[in-house]
Amino acid sequence: MPENTAGKLTMEKLVSLCQRRGFIFPSSDIYGGLSGCWDYGPVGIEFKRNVKEAWWRSIVQQRDDMVGVDTSIMMNSKVWEASGHVTNFSDPLVECKDCHLRWKADELTENKCPSCGGALTEERMFNTMFKTFIGPVEEEAAVVYLRPETAQGMFVNFQNIVNTSRKRLPFGIAQQGRAFRNEITTGNFIFRSREFEIMEFEYFVKPGTVEKWFDYWVEERFNWYLKLGIKKENLKLHQHPKEKLAHYARNCTDINYLFPHGWAELEGIVNRTDFDLKQHAAASGKSMEYFDDETKEHYVPYVIEPSLGADRAILAFLCDAYEEEPDKDEIRVVFHFHPDLAPIKVAVLPLSRKENLAAFAKDVYANLRPCFTTQYDDTQSIGRRYRRQDELGTPYCVTIDFQSLEDNMATIRERDSMNQIRVPVAALKNTLLAKLSGEDLFVLPEGGKIWKQSGND
Ligand code: GAP
Repeated sequence: MPENTAGKLTMEKLVSLCQRRGFIFPSSDIYGGLSGCWDYGPVGIEFKRNVKEAWWRSIVQQRDDMVGVDTSIMMNSKVWEASGHVTNFSDPLVECKDCHLRWKADELTENKCPSCGGALTEERMFNTMFKTFIGPVEEEAAVVYLRPETAQGMFVNFQNIVNTSRKRLPFGIAQQGRAFRNEITTGNFIFRSREFEIMEFEYFVKPGTVEKWFDYWVEERFNWYLKLGIKKENLKLHQHPKEKLAHYARNCTDINYLFPHGWAELEGIVNRTDFDLKQHAAASGKSMEYFDDETKEHYVPYVIEPSLGADRAILAFLCDAYEEEPDKDEIRVVFHFHPDLAPIKVAVLPLSRKENLAAFAKDVYANLRPCFTTQYDDTQSIGRRYRRQDELGTPYCVTIDFQSLEDNMATIRERDSMNQIRVPVAALKNTLLAKLSGEDLFVLPEGGKIWKQSGND
């Protein structure tokens, strides 16, 4: 008997909805895809940009103790030797002797192939960095790696940034960018891919103050998800046991999320100590010390690193916002995205395609577009169009009807409550701006006077 999944989000439903609505497609789809690679469609790219923007605003732009960088994907391979990745960035691999599928040994619960039950080979370590060659000659000297994390670009620029930004400790360097890992197994949609985006920062602190800053960042990062609408019961902290720590880490707390496939890591907050800066100082011969003008000491700072995959955050925001609600005889599927994240903020829906109404609605659309990501939709019944916008997570639909031509008013329909209010067209922009920023206000066209909205009238 197939499992009854009514009302419940499964990964299959999410993948299918994301594909149908233009969020995410398999990479190279017409050729059967490429395992571990995904493409963001017209709606997905808006959503992804909003997630990345929300992170960048809160981590970089709204703080005085943070700067951003954008470093190259390919770096001198000495970087990866010094950082320990060439030796240590490996996963334990086993192969099925019968079907030859490969598995990550530390994820198996039994000592047999999860696919065919066959016997497995001995475990061996497999380095998950992608290797390629720079220039026309394929020789060892020309080897470069596609970065598996963006962190090293920030460590090797430490002195450049101290010298040019005049930031004093504690301060952070933040970056968003592509990362590549030749994962043994991929899966669960965009949860684990071979090409993905990381958003992370290195927060440099005075040795001895590390514990305080570590706790501070765990709390800040946890609250970031709550502010953007993730339900608290779907998040929990997980302390890594010492034997499972990465080669550079002394301490690590993960923020785990309850994905459809179970609790799994969303973000890791790591105490990297002075490991990376010291390794680069030793390998490059360049000082990585910081001069503390208060205490007149020279020292190598310690580092706290909160790191998350943009795609994993996107998956969590999608899962958390998804809801199937009974609505009359049907099921309404809706993404209750936080307005800051919603890929489309407003949809303009004319009730008919009649010329005079369409011209009126297109005028409204043209006026709203400079302010919001706005969609114009005049196909199918109004009910179907509301459903479509619900599946895109659009917070507000503006409906233009024949009455609008008479009284210059339009209807705003709210995604979550499905309440409708009538608003003068000239006040649409300000009313939507106020609503999208969380204020339940009604703004008069002439400005200045603002009334609290009184419900459903
Ligand atoms: N610089 C530290 C670092 O890279 P990590 O725990 O290996 O740490 C950071 O990766 C985050 O990147 C993870 O918490 C996860 O959100 C995301 N991530 C890691 N591997 C991923 C993959 N194969 N696909 C998608 N996201 C991944």
